[in-house]
Amino acid sequence: MRRLSIRVPAKINLHLEVLGQRPDGYHELRTLFATVGLWDELEASQADDGVLKLEVSPRGFVDGGEDNLVLKAAKALWDEAGKRPGARLKLKKTIPVGAGLGGGSADAAAALVVLNRLWGLRLSQPALHRIAASLGSDVPFFLVGGLGWGVGRGEEVYPLGDVIGGAVLIGIPNVSVSTRLVYESLEHQGDWHPADPKVYSFIVGTAPAVPWEALRNDLQRYVVGTCPEVGILLGEMERRGGLRTAVTGSGSAVFALFADEEGAREAQSRLTGRWRTFVAPVLPRALARLEPRRF
Ligand code: C5P
Repeated sequence: MRRLSIRVPAKINLHLEVLGQRPDGYHELRTLFATVGLWDELEASQADDGVLKLEVSPRGFVDGGEDNLVLKAAKALWDEAGKRPGARLKLKKTIPVGAGLGGGSADAAAALVVLNRLWGLRLSQPALHRIAASLGSDVPFFLVGGLGWGVGRGEEVYPLGDVIGGAVLIGIPNVSVSTRLVYESLEHQGDWHPADPKVYSFIVGTAPAVPWEALRNDLQRYVVGTCPEVGILLGEMERRGGLRTAVTGSGSAVFALFADEEGAREAQSRLTGRWRTFVAPVLPRALARLEPRRF
């Protein structure tokens, strides 16, 4: 029996700019994604046609039912392929849920890649990207990995060179945040303003260095406003230094980027035990690739 396994990284948003709300209700974004080495693992083995089973561990970490994006990804592949090959899937979760670290989206992208291989579908990259975008705004990024510039809902992704390294300290407050609610709270504001042109110069490769001070996250104010705990964690982490400290995506996790792992570990040791913390490397594209392996 064929069995494949795939390691699934998380993401942070180093920059997230909201340009405004679109006629379809989504918000038009410009975002700088980076993959980080905090890993889920997805295993897939063949099963009878029409059978799709998902087991998630540890139990209670995330819902393994029909709403799980891994099952939605598998069913989207069925629709695309016009047949229903079976699979048993085991998802081992480490990436915190509802934290803005893209765990559910990454798992969905990994399911597309691993089942495309397991089932011998040979779907092209553009086809996988199209299906990924239908599953969620952040899913296509994980098919690209490394450092990426996300446009539109965030689903249109342009790969950038591996120009940012180091390691992040990630702090997890005891609250998870609904992405939809954060975006809804933005709707009443309408105080959009364009990013510093230095950000765009960096993206198109004409700025010599990362303009750290110009990077921002337009969702952060709303997340901190609704979850004071996130604001407290953010303040604590800002005091411990780093090149950039911010909420990732729509939260609730906060990251602080350091030039090396030692810096991140040092900051971790000085943070109180009130929050769960992780140290993870920023991954170059080659290490962020979703690559199924036999086991
Ligand atoms: O695309 P995804 O399902 O991840 O988005 C979750 C929710 O976040 C959407 O239903 C929408 O309310 C909001 N969203 C948005 N603009 C984006 C991405 C997400 O308004 N660019």
